[in-house]
Amino acid sequence: MSKYRTGIIACGIIARVHARAWLGVTGRPTEIAAIADTNPDALREYGEFFGISEEHRYADYREMLDKEKLDFVDVCSWHQQHAEMVIAAAARKPKAIICQKPMAVDLGEADAMLAACQRNGVKLAIAYQRPHHANWLKARELIRSGVIGRVLQVQLESGGNLLNTNSHNIRLALFLMDETRISWVMGTVERTTDQLERGLPAEDACLGLAACDNGATILIMGELVEGLAQGCRVIGERGIMELSTSYRPEEEIPSDGPMHMPEGLSARYNYEIGTLRYFSDTSAGWTEVNEPWHDCWSGQCQEAVDWVEGRIEQPISGGDRGRAVQEAMMALFESARRRQRIYLPLKTKVNPLRLMVESGELPVEWPGSYERRATLVRGEAMSWHEV
Ligand SMILES: NC(=O)c1ccc[n+]([C@@H]2O[C@H](COP(=O)([O-])OP(=O)(O)OC[C@H]3O[C@@H](n4cnc5c(N)ncnc54)[C@H](O)[C@@H]3O)[C@@H](O)[C@H]2O)c1
Repeated sequence: MSKYRTGIIACGIIARVHARAWLGVTGRPTEIAAIADTNPDALREYGEFFGISEEHRYADYREMLDKEKLDFVDVCSWHQQHAEMVIAAAARKPKAIICQKPMAVDLGEADAMLAACQRNGVKLAIAYQRPHHANWLKARELIRSGVIGRVLQVQLESGGNLLNTNSHNIRLALFLMDETRISWVMGTVERTTDQLERGLPAEDACLGLAACDNGATILIMGELVEGLAQGCRVIGERGIMELSTSYRPEEEIPSDGPMHMPEGLSARYNYEIGTLRYFSDTSAGWTEVNEPWHDCWSGQCQEAVDWVEGRIEQPISGGDRGRAVQEAMMALFESARRRQRIYLPLKTKVNPLRLMVESGELPVEWPGSYERRATLVRGEAMSWHEV
């Protein structure tokens, strides 16, 4: 049987993780057929490393979309390009698109992406990969079985700005609570320096509370406490559950070879372990869960294939779920802007943090703009958006 053809847009760090994920799906149903990147070094290194011949390497991703008959398009660029690239890909009607998180920079873009996919009959997945961790899938099963009783609160304690890291944890909280709807969000942000994260204004810290239709709340703490980082604490009526992540020893993780590697081994993401422990009123202390490990990114790619082949109807990583995360994050920022609780559905379509920064409503204490991820960028620019 011929393989599905996957095309990757933007061959940076996370694109390597995606390539390993596609190639790690059982039976290898897909091939990396084509790649696109504006940076010639990134394109060449990636092409050589993953064995994509020169005629299938493109500087212009639209040319790739037009020339290659792609079944899957995988968007791995920085946040501000997600909407443009997904909408362009959708117009060429692949079977499905996987786009990196955060889905977009605001709610308006997320809606446009969903509309573009819907009108072209294209499936859209957003790469919040961690619910595909074996232990975290088990966590949802255990919560469903009532092991900690009714969920009262999910606590998120991540370092990193909201769109970068707690976006994952909001997705996790909604996943563990069977996609309950958020009814309102109240929150605040601190921004003392003019920092950007992958081209977008970012906060120093944030705090939020989201109320859910199932009666639980989600407590969002960003850059405030050293805690579970990627993961969460679930407080139930009868017990507590903790999800976090760990890694295998560095020497067990494959190398990036000669590729540009400013943030360490990219395969660490593929080899991440989602950990889980819980206790309840019937257990004596913590119970650790150790389900057989798999690469959660491959789990996500497998899900995309299953979705395309009609084996599932509601994927864990579906676009609507990415949108729910986007709406919660934008509502937190909007609450900070308007200094009031924000009831969903959110009507504000722009990014309220960006709006506050641009309108001068959130003045910094120490002026001077800088990009937190400038080491990822090559050449003279400090951001890919300037290249
Ligand atoms: N799901 C996760 O756990 C996870 C982890 C890390 C990063 N990410 C996300 O992945 C995305 C990419 O991050 P990264 O760290 O891989 O970035 P990166 O800087 O390593 O890679 C970005 C690539 O985009 C290319 N590019 C820039 N403009 C382009 C254009 N117009 N057309 C084609 N290519 C273009 C650059 O040349 C570069 O190779 C971000 O949105 C980030 O949030 C997700």
